[in-house]
Amino acid sequence: MAGRWKPDLTWADVTPKAAYMNRRQLLAGAGAVAAGAIAGPAMASLGAVPSPYSTDETPNTFEEITNYCNFYEFGTGKEDPARNAHMLTTEPWAVRIDGLVDKPGLYGLEDILADVTLEERIYRLRCVEAWSMVVPWVGFELADLLAKVGVQDGARYVAFETAYRPDEMPGARFPILDWPYREGLRLDEAMHPLTILATGLYDEPMPNQNGAPIRLVVPWKYGFKSIKSVVRITLTADQPHASWNHSQPREYGFYSNVNPEVDHPRWSQATERRIGEGLFAPRRPTLMFNGYADEVASMYAGMDLTKFY
Ligand code: MTE
Repeated sequence: MAGRWKPDLTWADVTPKAAYMNRRQLLAGAGAVAAGAIAGPAMASLGAVPSPYSTDETPNTFEEITNYCNFYEFGTGKEDPARNAHMLTTEPWAVRIDGLVDKPGLYGLEDILADVTLEERIYRLRCVEAWSMVVPWVGFELADLLAKVGVQDGARYVAFETAYRPDEMPGARFPILDWPYREGLRLDEAMHPLTILATGLYDEPMPNQNGAPIRLVVPWKYGFKSIKSVVRITLTADQPHASWNHSQPREYGFYSNVNPEVDHPRWSQATERRIGEGLFAPRRPTLMFNGYADEVASMYAGMDLTKFY
């Protein structure tokens, strides 16, 4: 399942040359970024501030993060999103926030971002397919947005929906999933400070293939929970529809917390391949809750994680 990674499409192939050269120069002059330190002024186009929640592991390169993607609306190949996601119109963008909230409405992205502090969150990302990356996201806590719209008593879950635009999304013309792509979290998971809405990476606006202009990032869960290009957030009383869970419930649980002890029915989840390390590098042991157990394990106290997988 974790297919052979062929980096046959580079950032240079999908980016205007001037932007590409600019990026190379910036990266060359900012070795600190690759080392996971705070971006210097030359890189600070979004001005994200550092966060104690960041890992000190070395981030993957911008090229790796933007060329090895899962975004089935643009095709099922790892390089398809980089090739096709430029077709997505990301401006203007609005997110409908509804359900059990005090202030439902259609919120323009600029209103959502008006008074948030963008932070750099360097997180591990563990895909259910047993590969991983480290990504320097830029974003803000989902809890801040939920506080602004006012969560009503009775809300127990948060549902998310990706844009569904077959005219801009060649992959969404095929019935691979029950479109639109949908995901959900329990309310306490959604309110957890590690849970962010990300609008960029490497201190730059989110590349389309990574879920522009705004996507969810939940670092202790398998990557498919981190839904891209979000257009709707709904507070609900009941557990919401989640696309992968709906399509293959036995293989993809609603919780999908990273767990090396619960194998996928078709492959082991005990280890993972870090993108960029090469095919012959030793696999890394997968960590419980993707290494975020200290922060999140208490939310699942008393739950049988082999049953609620
Ligand atoms: N969101 C949408 N709308 N469509 C997708 O196909 N793929 C998921 C998730 N979010 C996906 C999605 C999967 S399987 C993973 S591993 C992550 O996005 C990958 O995020 P990345 O490509 O930015 O690394």
